[in-house]
Amino acid sequence: MTAPTPLIAGNWKMNGLAASLAEARAIAEGVGDGPARVALCPPAILIHRMTEVVAGSKVLVGGQDAHSEDSGAFTGDTSAEMLADAGAKLVILGHSERREGYRETDGLVARKVRAALRAGLEPIVCVGETLVQRKAGDALAVVTGQVRGSLPAELAGRDFSVAYEPVWAIGTGLTPTTAEIEEVHRAIRATLVETFGAPARRVPILYGGSVKPGNAAEILHADEVGGALVGGASLKAADFLGIVRAL
Ligand code: G3P
Repeated sequence: MTAPTPLIAGNWKMNGLAASLAEARAIAEGVGDGPARVALCPPAILIHRMTEVVAGSKVLVGGQDAHSEDSGAFTGDTSAEMLADAGAKLVILGHSERREGYRETDGLVARKVRAALRAGLEPIVCVGETLVQRKAGDALAVVTGQVRGSLPAELAGRDFSVAYEPVWAIGTGLTPTTAEIEEVHRAIRATLVETFGAPARRVPILYGGSVKPGNAAEILHADEVGGALVGGASLKAADFLGIVRAL
């Protein structure tokens, strides 16, 4: 069975203005043609302009969230089809900042995944435990439960990835040990294979949480790590390219 093609995705979160597209341009110019697929997920309002800036490079553009419905009276929301129409190819779903800040449940994330698939977007589905859950010894149970609850059967045969982002590692400069990352990634792989069968061995399992150029090589070469979901370090081309080149 072929190994997953790695994916390095940058999540700009609610950062970036039109001027920040200069960083995307520098990433597109510097990305080369290494082994990883590379994506940048800016705020939705920048997606269209970013696709123009990175055109001709291998950089894909993605969204950070999408509504679970295709259209309708949902003031302020953005549908998956709108993201695709703006040029997005992927979409991050179920990020812990959405799960916490907007009370997104596994069930809602699963509905968003279905909406993304209807729109032809490739979902990056995020899971991860809090510090309290890790300290209680519940990390594996929490994460595998989120994988089971957030990934609908419709994903069978479709391109998608799972991002393991321990909540306590996001934006904190803290990271789990390599052994801890591998333990969780192996548990996610086992759950994916149990759910979707052998083809799920090709699903990339990304790690996210304080990935920097300095720790990227060790993390990206850990067992069952199929790429990274990068927050802060994706905002500057030099940092993000340092991570892409670590593979
Ligand atoms: O989605 C990526 C993110 O949550 C990780 O953020 O800033 O710790 O790399 P950061």
